[in-house]
Amino acid sequence: MNVLVINCSPVRNGATAEIVRIVSRQLSGKYVVEPVCIDDYDIHFCRGCRVCHTTAACVQHDGVDRLMERFEWADVIVSVAPSYWADIPGQFKVFIDRCTPWCNTHEPHAKLSGGKRGYAIALRTGPSMRECERIIESIRHFYGHLEIESCGSLGLCSIEYKEAVAPREREIIRFCDSI
Ligand SMILES: Cc1cc2nc3c(=O)[nH]c(=O)nc-3n(C[C@H](O)[C@H](O)[C@H](O)COP(=O)(O)O)c2cc1C
Repeated sequence: MNVLVINCSPVRNGATAEIVRIVSRQLSGKYVVEPVCIDDYDIHFCRGCRVCHTTAACVQHDGVDRLMERFEWADVIVSVAPSYWADIPGQFKVFIDRCTPWCNTHEPHAKLSGGKRGYAIALRTGPSMRECERIIESIRHFYGHLEIESCGSLGLCSIEYKEAVAPREREIIRFCDSI
């Protein structure tokens, strides 16, 4: 089974990256795991042209093609997203917008292979779980339109820098055990 773990933050060595590292290490005991960072990919803004509504393909070709190849490869996708202004980081949102060719609300649309499972982990500095839930909901919404089954989520509050992740390692490992 192939697992794609996405750092949805542009920071390659921050708290999100640390969580991606723990998840990847845990899951590599039973699956083939590939960790990636959204910032590894050159992704341009959606232009809102809607050509994909009739062609099922984007007029632009960039890092989206490569990242979607990784989605196709994966049986399980784990998206790890920090809160940036109470929402997912802009880089991840731009990627989601560009996934409109795969969105099941229009025909024709591009399709990933069936049977994929998706998980979401949200983190933030503030103390309230509501903001994590909002981020998790954005990821679930995205998975839903790509027909990736949402199978679990984890919210982690009170995390600003990577040093705050170590005391939460057990929580993260317990979550990994459910994947
Ligand atoms: C631009 C920016 C906006 C942020 N906005 C919020 C916020 O609205 N609420 C919150 O709790 N934390 C917020 N944070 C804190 C991050 O969620 C937190 O530091 C997280 O651990 C960042 O992980 P990263 O360094 O891996 O990107 C923000 C951080 C940045 C850089």
